Amino acid sequence: MNNVAEHIAIIMDGNGRWAKNRGHNRTKGHERGVEVVRKITVYCSEQPAIKELTLYAFSTENWKRPKLEVEFLMKLIERYLRKELPFYLKHNTRFETIGDLSRFSSSLQKLISQIKEKTAHCDGLVQNLALNYGSRNEIIRAANTVISANGELTEQALTDQLDSSSDIDLLIRTGGDHRLSNFLLWQAAYAELFFTQTLWPDFTKEELQRVINKFEKIERRFGGLK
Ligand code: IPE
Ligand code: IPE
Ligand code: MG
Repeated sequence: MNNVAEHIAIIMDGNGRWAKNRGHNRTKGHERGVEVVRKITVYCSEQPAIKELTLYAFSTENWKRPKLEVEFLMKLIERYLRKELPFYLKHNTRFETIGDLSRFSSSLQKLISQIKEKTAHCDGLVQNLALNYGSRNEIIRAANTVISANGELTEQALTDQLDSSSDIDLLIRTGGDHRLSNFLLWQAAYAELFFTQTLWPDFTKEELQRVINKFEKIERRFGGLK
């Protein structure tokens, strides 16, 4: 029996380097990156086996970047979401987010909740966009929620309070680095990890398919024996 990649998570890294290699400003790489988000989302929405796609778009650490780049990214996310509703509806894809949205402008927060509401009925793929997401921040928020309800802090109680509680099957990082950068530390406990040199703007559905093909053949033991 082949493994099924029901939940795929991607660290979309390498936008800046992609642009720099072409003599462009880093921002060009982020714009290109958005187009790849669309292509990969369409591909996943067409694979009935794939239920969830979680994409790392902006980390809790990315605020450390130069103010101009952060401002550009905020505007880009807003510009992208402003026109994205027909896309989600067309591909029967439900839009969700993980991360602490409270640091975003109220207009962006409002836009995000509108798209969530308007795609709530879509029963195909779930696309989770990780925005101001950091795994440590998420775990602490979840733990505090359990504690304030006077509950016992168990594995299940904590999992239930995470922004996204479902386990990751396949985690991919583009851009050549071999690290998690504070992404889904809890949910990826038994994920299969794939790292590719390909920079995110160059990533294709064909490469994703090749990764999935390899994933399907891996012996996943979850600590047991086969
Ligand atoms: C990933 O690409 C996108 C974000 C973190 C927003 P980078 O901007 O990190 O690109 P590189 O890694 O510097 O090339
Ligand atoms: C991880 O990429 C975050 C996103 C892709 C959104 P970074 O470029 O921020 O990670 P580091 O700094 O190389 O660890
Ligand atoms: Mg990077």
